[in-house]
Amino acid sequence: MINRRKFINKAALGSVAIAGASLYACKETPATASVTTTSSAAPKKIKKPAIISTWNHGLVANEEAWKTLGTGGASLDAVESGVRITEADPKISTVGYGGWPDRDGFVTLDACIMDHNSRAGSVAFLQDIMHPISVARKVMEETPHVMLVGEGAKQFALEKGFKAQNLLTDDAKKAYEEWLKKSEYKPVINIENHDTISMIAMDEEGHLSAACTTSGAAWKMHGRVGDSPIIGCGLFLDGDVGAAAATGLGEAIIRTAGSAMVVELMRQGKTPAEACKEIVERIYEKHRNQPEFDYIQVGFIAMNKYGEYGAYSLRKGFNYATYDKDEGNKLTDAEFKMA
Ligand code: GLY
Repeated sequence: MINRRKFINKAALGSVAIAGASLYACKETPATASVTTTSSAAPKKIKKPAIISTWNHGLVANEEAWKTLGTGGASLDAVESGVRITEADPKISTVGYGGWPDRDGFVTLDACIMDHNSRAGSVAFLQDIMHPISVARKVMEETPHVMLVGEGAKQFALEKGFKAQNLLTDDAKKAYEEWLKKSEYKPVINIENHDTISMIAMDEEGHLSAACTTSGAAWKMHGRVGDSPIIGCGLFLDGDVGAAAATGLGEAIIRTAGSAMVVELMRQGKTPAEACKEIVERIYEKHRNQPEFDYIQVGFIAMNKYGEYGAYSLRKGFNYATYDKDEGNKLTDAEFKMA
């Protein structure tokens, strides 16, 4: 079956090994009214609580997350509860239940979560579990590891009480059967990759957390894992600096360790928007002469430790949702490099 499909069989990507011991138990950092950056001596007033998340579906996710954040709850609980809404929505074809399957008809899910103490949890190539983000949180909080994949991740989820269920909806099955007629792997900008829900939130305590969850690129090879569950690629958070998260074609984001780089640029003094833009420019430079460039979209969101946020995308069409006390929940079109 696979042989008669036209499929872009790309060389294996360089692997991105994000190793490191899980901070299984860690101390709370004290909240401060103002903090000083490494690049500037002037303390800034922290804007909190605040949320930024990807795409239209971020609006509904923010609404849920604000129930926690707006009542003084922890950002970690907020981001988990927010993205669970997207995971459970059968109409969203790029995340969780209802996600479009891989080229063999399997829905496979990737997710990760981080907090202000550099704790991280991740699952990849997980099947039959509705809420990979909650499994990722359990990996972070209840194991000595950062990442579990495939059958091992599923076995862990079942042990923790998650229920196995079929995530392939009738609509997704129909889309898959339609795709099978040509069986071409050619992601459609801002549609099949209109994808990951990534969310960054800061709570009243000034603590940042972030979450990222997706069913990945539609019609991918069975076993393919994108950027979303890879700490430093789909998401990165350093409580001393800020957080960044990605959406779009995971391979381009992995090749550039995108989210980690956005955070490092903020550490050097860039604003969130400037940092996102610089990494998108880098992705553009690295890919513009590559055959897959025509179907690459990437976008980043970022928030620094002052609650300031920004975003930028390679192509027109990316938007993000923000929520704070002053402006409420709103959707903004990201600035972009090219139409
Ligand atoms: N950014 C999601 C993916 O490429 O899987």
